[in-house]
Amino acid sequence: MRTQVGIIGGGPAGLLLSRLLALQGVDSVVLENRSREYVEGRIRAGILEQHSVDTLVAAGVGDRLRREGLEHSGIHLQWPGTRATLDFPALCGRTVWVYGQTEVVKDLVAAQLAGGPPLLFGVSDVVPEDVDTDSPRIRFTDADGAPQVLGCDVVAGTDGFHGVSRGLVAGGGGQQVFERTYPYAWLGILADAAPSTDELIYAWHPDGFALYSMRSPTVSRLYVQVDPAERIEDWSDERIWDALDTRLALEGWSVNRGPVLEKSILPMRSFVSTPMRRGRLFLAGDAAHIVPPTGAKGLNLAIADVTRLATALVRLLQDKQTDLADAYSDAALARVWRCTHFSWWMTSMLHRSGDEFDARLQLAQLERVCSSEPAARELAENYTGLPVEA
Ligand code: APR
Ligand code: PHB
Repeated sequence: MRTQVGIIGGGPAGLLLSRLLALQGVDSVVLENRSREYVEGRIRAGILEQHSVDTLVAAGVGDRLRREGLEHSGIHLQWPGTRATLDFPALCGRTVWVYGQTEVVKDLVAAQLAGGPPLLFGVSDVVPEDVDTDSPRIRFTDADGAPQVLGCDVVAGTDGFHGVSRGLVAGGGGQQVFERTYPYAWLGILADAAPSTDELIYAWHPDGFALYSMRSPTVSRLYVQVDPAERIEDWSDERIWDALDTRLALEGWSVNRGPVLEKSILPMRSFVSTPMRRGRLFLAGDAAHIVPPTGAKGLNLAIADVTRLATALVRLLQDKQTDLADAYSDAALARVWRCTHFSWWMTSMLHRSGDEFDARLQLAQLERVCSSEPAARELAENYTGLPVEA
């Protein structure tokens, strides 16, 4: 087997990269170690920045997103007694869309299987080799158990946080890892209940942070801050709804309850591994960096990375020019660090540490964001997504 770009990992980053390359005449093969059902069933974040929507639409995978996605023009920020609204179009001229990552992945898989480049599910033992040369290869075992070798010009490591690619970049020397583990986790539920709010609500509360999000006009997605040591078995549906009622409370308004379809606890961490390249191996998405979910940047960062990477690889493979490939890691990391700061800042402003001095600072910051136009604009610009060239 031979292709131009061997892509390891069929999450949103790998699938979109394959699609963007195909549209510009570069072939690729996507190797995914899980099954199609597993990849399409994972529940992840659900907010798309303006540039992510534009990218998916331009790539021809935005029809259902435009039909079923919910365009949102702001968020509510709340603390006891106050619910303030930030109006994104007025502040920065952009909006965001509610559309689950699960749906983005289904649309990308469908496009790929309908005449797109090969997408192989259920492969194992994936090992990239010779990435310091101009003709690397990827060894793997296919779904039938047969050993295979995929020769290529470039390897894209889009295999997420637990993939094999980042370790190989580290083996090239000069790797630096930056990490922050937060003393918080999110307990998230997906509920068959119509959201009782027009916009997402980010709530500061003495008991801890809560977030009211949604997936559709009939499905809500809600989160409460918990200690990372909490066990999901100790949180009955009733206990979760009660915590949401308390933390999101506002006079004359209530949370809509309904059957809980899924619940889980998510750890929160920031992680950046540099550089995002070794020779002919390029990293993108969660393979290189992780942000805490506050602000929903993970998927959007992955989309921004592969948009940049696709342009760089087309130039490298078609025009034989190395400039954009050489600039890729630094340029992608500049945006990664901006989003890492924003996610850290949102997390720091909204989560209870248990320290009363911290609490007063957080409330002062929230008041400022909701009363000063420049402060609100700073949040709005970052939340709706800075330009990919930034
Ligand atoms: N070989 C092949 N595939 C692999 C391997 C491997 N050794 N290791 C992991 N994978 C696959 C995973 O099964 C997964 O489908 O790589 C894919 C990586 O996808 P994601 O984890 O979704 O990462 P990415 O595409 O970068 O998307 C980033 O995902 O984690 C969320 O919040 C994050 O929204 C962000 C988005
Ligand atoms: C979600 O809907 O899953 C979501 C929304 C906003 C966030 C994080 C997650 O900041």
